[in-house]
Amino acid sequence: MAPKSLAAYAGAALLLAAQTSALEFTIANGQIYTPGLVIVDAPQPGTPLGGDLIEVALDVSTNGRLQLPPYAEDSPSMIHGVAIFLSSYVTGRNFTITNGTASANNASLGDIMFQEPGSTVKHVKWTWPDCLVGDGSRQQGLGESETDRGVYNVSIRQSFRLNGTDHYTIFDLPISVTNSIPASENRPSCDSLSNPMLTPEEILASADTSVPVMFAPGDATSVQTSPNGAASWRGGMGWVGLAGLVAVLVM
Ligand SMILES: *[C@@H]1O[C@H](CO)[C@@H](O)[C@H](O)[C@H]1NC(C)=O
Ligand SMILES: *[C@@H]1O[C@H](CO)[C@@H](O)[C@H](O)[C@H]1NC(C)=O
Ligand SMILES: *[C@@H]1O[C@H](CO)[C@@H](O)[C@H](O)[C@H]1NC(C)=O
Ligand SMILES: *[C@@H]1O[C@H](CO)[C@@H](O)[C@H](O)[C@H]1NC(C)=O
Ligand SMILES: *[C@@H]1O[C@H](CO)[C@@H](O)[C@H](O)[C@H]1NC(C)=O
Repeated sequence: MAPKSLAAYAGAALLLAAQTSALEFTIANGQIYTPGLVIVDAPQPGTPLGGDLIEVALDVSTNGRLQLPPYAEDSPSMIHGVAIFLSSYVTGRNFTITNGTASANNASLGDIMFQEPGSTVKHVKWTWPDCLVGDGSRQQGLGESETDRGVYNVSIRQSFRLNGTDHYTIFDLPISVTNSIPASENRPSCDSLSNPMLTPEEILASADTSVPVMFAPGDATSVQTSPNGAASWRGGMGWVGLAGLVAVLVM
């Protein structure tokens, strides 16, 4: 894992800082804010992970500002879909966690917006595929030919409409696959979940990079919903007192 320093900033400075580098994060009360309507509850950036599966917890209600699907057709704000990949330029691997269509045995997951109906937080549980079994990582001395374990991004791709405008944004959350993952016959094969690696330039070209990180405490961005949406709006400014808890993590 790369060395990191943790520094606290006041809200305004933080929102600026978050936009200047992809490797800085806007975190408040353990929630990680994204350029989109999804807010990440877990995992935290840089966390070493292992076990049977990875659980990515996403608030898809923008902390209560947006209703859950099915949305009114004319709703000016909605999440069209969330795709998640686990990828690494270090290992050269790019796995599908979810692309909206479940594959056999949920090796890659279906539309996460419709799981746990009624819950504003979707707990995306994805079984580690077979090539990630083991302990340690390349960074901890294992050779390139020995393992695909190491640093990865949980790459969260949101397709959404905000106030009548459609966007596609990419939010890369670094984790490290370094804790022990036990072998099991139930693990899908890595090859069945693999996608080609694209260059950063190719990826940037597909994404809407004009969307800033939004909705953090101190940011008063609001969301228009349809009248029957009953979105309860939690005022950003009321949260300014929490700014002391806001931190920027510089990897
Ligand atoms: C994670 O994504 C960032 C861009 O968002 C990229 O700079 C970095 O190289 C990626 N990390 C890995 C391990 O691929
Ligand atoms: C796949 O996941 C969905 C949603 O959680 C669940 O309803 C379904 O039963 C799962 N299918 C399999 C084969 O595990
Ligand atoms: C979704 O991901 C699975 C597993 O990588 C793949 O087999 C399938 O073709 C993908 N579907 C789409 C629509 O991209
Ligand atoms: C991983 O594959 C998906 C699906 O093809 C693609 O959208 C994404 O940009 C790829 N990620 C990287 C880092 O190449
Ligand atoms: C969305 O619309 C509301 C109400 O008109 C407005 O206050 C807010 O600033 C808009 N948000 C964005 C991101 O444009």
